[in-house]
Amino acid sequence: MTLEILPMEAKYLEDAAALVVDNFRALRRRIPRLPARYEQPLVIVDLLGKLENEARGAVALKAGRLAGFLSGSMMPNFYKKRAFYSPEWANAAEEAFSREVYEALYAYLSPIWLREGCQALAVSLMAHDEPARQVWGWLGFGILAVDALRGMEPLAVSVPEIEIRQAGAADLPALGELLAGLSRHLAGPPVFLAQDFPRPADLLAKPGYVMWLAFEAGEAVGFLGMDPAYRDGCLILQDEDTIQVEPAYISEKCRGAGVGKALLEHALAEARRQGYLRCSVDFESPNILASRFWLKRFEPACYSLMRVIDMGGE
Ligand SMILES: CC(C)(COP(=O)(O)OP(=O)(O)OC[C@H]1O[C@@H](n2cnc3c(N)ncnc32)[C@H](O)[C@@H]1OP(=O)(O)O)[C@@H](O)C(=O)NCCC(=O)NCCS
Repeated sequence: MTLEILPMEAKYLEDAAALVVDNFRALRRRIPRLPARYEQPLVIVDLLGKLENEARGAVALKAGRLAGFLSGSMMPNFYKKRAFYSPEWANAAEEAFSREVYEALYAYLSPIWLREGCQALAVSLMAHDEPARQVWGWLGFGILAVDALRGMEPLAVSVPEIEIRQAGAADLPALGELLAGLSRHLAGPPVFLAQDFPRPADLLAKPGYVMWLAFEAGEAVGFLGMDPAYRDGCLILQDEDTIQVEPAYISEKCRGAGVGKALLEHALAEARRQGYLRCSVDFESPNILASRFWLKRFEPACYSLMRVIDMGGE
């Protein structure tokens, strides 16, 4: 039975949301601490409805039944490129037809996105969905970012006894230097991602935000921020009970000595006291230090894949 590919319309939203919810339930069986709210079809219908206004998605029908869909929105500055991005709640395919559905949707939609000036295409996939990751890999997409989750339980490892305290106005110069170090780390090999960070004062002014600083011999050598209002990562990890690590950095000379673990342990204990139920983090997969550090302590929930399109010419 061949697939019929049609533009996304409001009449398909409920069936599309049902596919997303099925997929999310499968992920939540693996990671039960994920927020339950994304098992509610109406939450997803509402999100998809807002995208539908942009009319850049499509559905795949098999004998008149929705077997998959792909939707998303234009991002003017996605890793410094104009990109079309499909979040993890804006694409899904029945597992049995994953390959043919995603291939057909991508072949149909990609020329439309490129005509609108996209230089890159990106898609987030739920971490358990290995078949989808395979298909997108064959379509030329590579993992660039990971969203991961853990509970608030202690790390259960020994950490060095170092001074850790909350950053305040007097720490802004030291924090500025450490943030510049993080920027350099991300812009350099093997990450190669230039990122704009908020100014230290703007970070500290965010509602509910706490920046923990670690000191050695009176010198600030690392930081770890905890942001309850973080909204840049994948949505399905987020709700009012989730706090996000954003960002973290240990100065090069002090790495590998347990300072990162001590900061994380401290930040988790404080967030636990405040009643948070889970902690998320997102990081670039080519950031080897970060991948090693977070993946030992957090479980991947979403992978974000990207493909940069080179159309040649000037
Ligand atoms: C990721 C990062 C915050 C971890 O902080 P850290 O203080 O080095 O971490 P720790 O020392 O507590 O633990 C690092 C682990 O790597 C091991 N390690 C050994 N030598 C190391 C070295 N030279 N550098 C880093 N880690 C090393 C540690 O023994 C430890 O192993 P374990 O996980 O089995 O316990 C730090 O490497 C860093 O700032 N990286 C650059 C910035 C960055 O990537 N930030 C995260 C952005 S999301």
